[in-house]
Amino acid sequence: ISIIFVKVPMLLLNLNKPNFVLMMVDDLGIGDVGCYGNDTIRTPNIDRLASEGVKLTQHIAAAPLCTPSRSAFITGRYALRSGMGSTGRVQVVLFLAGSGGLPPSETTFAKRLQQQGYTTGLVGKWHLGVNCEYRGDHCHHPNQHGFSYFYGLPFTLFNDCVPGEGRDVLADLQETLEQLTMCQLIVYVPFHRKDHARVHLKNTLLATAVWYVPFILLPTWNCIIMRNQEVIEQPMTVETLPQRLLGEAQNFIKRNADHPFLLFFSLAHIHTPMFKTPAFAGKSRHGRYGDNLEEVDWIIGKITETVDSLGLASNTLMYFASDHGGHLEDSDLQTGQKGGWNGIYKGGKAMGGWEGGIRVPGIFRWPGRLAAGKVVDEPTSLMDLYPTLKYLAKDTQPDRQLDGYNLMPLLEGKAARSEHEFMFHYCGIYLNAVRWHPPGSDSIFKVHFFTPNFSPPGAVGCYDTKVCLCHGEHVTHHTPPLVYDLFHDPSESRPLTPDTEPRFAEILEQTAKAVERHKSTLTNEQMTWSKILWRPWLQPCCGTFPFCGCKEDTAQL
Ligand SMILES: *[C@@H]1O[C@H](CO)[C@@H](O)[C@H](O)[C@H]1NC(C)=O
Repeated sequence: ISIIFVKVPMLLLNLNKPNFVLMMVDDLGIGDVGCYGNDTIRTPNIDRLASEGVKLTQHIAAAPLCTPSRSAFITGRYALRSGMGSTGRVQVVLFLAGSGGLPPSETTFAKRLQQQGYTTGLVGKWHLGVNCEYRGDHCHHPNQHGFSYFYGLPFTLFNDCVPGEGRDVLADLQETLEQLTMCQLIVYVPFHRKDHARVHLKNTLLATAVWYVPFILLPTWNCIIMRNQEVIEQPMTVETLPQRLLGEAQNFIKRNADHPFLLFFSLAHIHTPMFKTPAFAGKSRHGRYGDNLEEVDWIIGKITETVDSLGLASNTLMYFASDHGGHLEDSDLQTGQKGGWNGIYKGGKAMGGWEGGIRVPGIFRWPGRLAAGKVVDEPTSLMDLYPTLKYLAKDTQPDRQLDGYNLMPLLEGKAARSEHEFMFHYCGIYLNAVRWHPPGSDSIFKVHFFTPNFSPPGAVGCYDTKVCLCHGEHVTHHTPPLVYDLFHDPSESRPLTPDTEPRFAEILEQTAKAVERHKSTLTNEQMTWSKILWRPWLQPCCGTFPFCGCKEDTAQL
C-alpha cells in the first residue's frame, strides 16, 4: 500500500516534466561549427540540432577556462561565489589530489532536479575536484553534487595523458620549481654551517621529491576513469575513451527512458591530446583537429539518434555548448592547426575578457516546444541553464543568489530582450571586463579594465606560457578602460573614445555602479595555491597507494 501511495503522487508530479540532455564539448571554438559559419568542417549533426531548434549567437561562458566556467555552469553562479576563482597563476584544478573543488555546500542543477524526482547522470569530464581531507571522502565528487550516476574523468583530458604528446601548463610550472630548488641549494648551502646545510639539503631534496613525484606520475595520478565512487581505470586508455563515453551516455538514456532524467554528457573532446580514432583519422580538411571535430559531430548525432529512436524527442530538451573558446596556443605540430577556431572573435581560451574565449556555440532543441530554426542574438549565459532547468522541472523552492536567468521566454519567443543587462567577465578572481546591454538599445558595450599581455609581442595569445595569466606583469591595466561596442565591432578592433561614442562617460559610470553592486554580494574564500597543491593522501587510487593501477574490463563493449 505504501508503495502505491508513494508512487502515484510521484508519477503525477513527474507528468509533463521534460528530460534534459546537456552536451558540452571541451575547448570548442564558435568558429569551428558549420551553423556558426564554418564552411570547411563537416558538422551536419550539430547543424541539424540548430535547424530543428534555437541557435544562440551571443552565448557567454562565465570564465574562459574549464574549472571556473564549469563551476558557474552547474551552479548558475559566478565561480567566485563558490570559491572557485583562482588567486594565483593556476586557474584550474591541476591535480586530482588537490584539496580544492566545488564546495560540498554548493547546490547544482543536478541536486535540484534530484529533489524533483529526476534521475541524474554525468558522463565524461568533471574537473571540479574530488577529495577534501582524505582519500575517498569524495566531498567534491559528482555523486555528492547531485549526479546519482557518474562515469568518466574526474579530471580532464590532458596532454600528459598520452606519452609523447608533450606537457600542458605544467611544463612552465615544472621549470619554475626546478629553478627554485636550484636557487635554494646554491644560495643556502655554501654559506651555512655544515650541519645546518645538511638538514637544509635534506629538506630541500625531500620537498623536491614530493613535488616531482606527481609530475613524473601525472598520467597515473590524473588520467583516470571512475564509475561512481570507484576508480576503475588508472592510467586510462585514451584510445577507447570516445566509444566508452558514448556508450555510457546512450545506456544512461536507454535505462531511464520511462521517467524524467537529466544527462550531462561532458565530452573529453576537443581538448588536446587529439584522439586518433581510425574511422575519422585523415578524413577532414583540418588535420587531426578537424578529424576530432568531425568525430564530435558524429557522437552528437548518435546521442540525438538515441533520444529520437526511443520516442523521447518531443519531451526532451537537448542542449549543445562548449565550456569556453578554442585554445589558440595549443597548436598541433603535425598540421599547424591550432586548438580551436573562434571565428571573427578576438582571443581565445584563457584570454581574460576577450570575446573569443567566452562566446561559445549554444543550441537548444525541443521539437514541438521550441520553434525550429529560431536564432537568438541577445546576450545569454551558460549560467542560465540552472534557472531554466529548475523552471522546467517546476522547482519553486527558495534558492541562493543566482547570476543566470530562465531562458525559456527568449527561447520560446515570448520575450525579445535578455534579462542580462550586465555581465561580468573574470580572469581568476580579477574582474577583467564588464558587458553592458543598455535597455532599449542594440549596443553591447564591453569595458575592459585590463587585458592580457600577449607573448611573444605581436602574437594574439600567450605562446610563452601557453595560457595567459591574470595579474602583475602579465596584464596591462587601462585607465580609462578600453571600451568596445560589440554590436558594431564584434571583433573588438576599434576602441571607442569620448569623441566617437556620445555615451562614453555614461558607459563608464553605469558599469562602475554595476560593479559596485555586484562586488557587494561576493565572498572572499577562493582557490588559493594550497588548495591546488598535490597531496599524496588525497590521491584517488585503485590498488595500494602509491602503487595505483587497474584497467576497465571492456571485453563486452
Ligand atoms: C573552420 O574550422 C577550421 C578548424 O578550426 C578553421 O581552421 C577554419 O578557419 C574555419 N573556417 C571558417 C570559415 O571559419
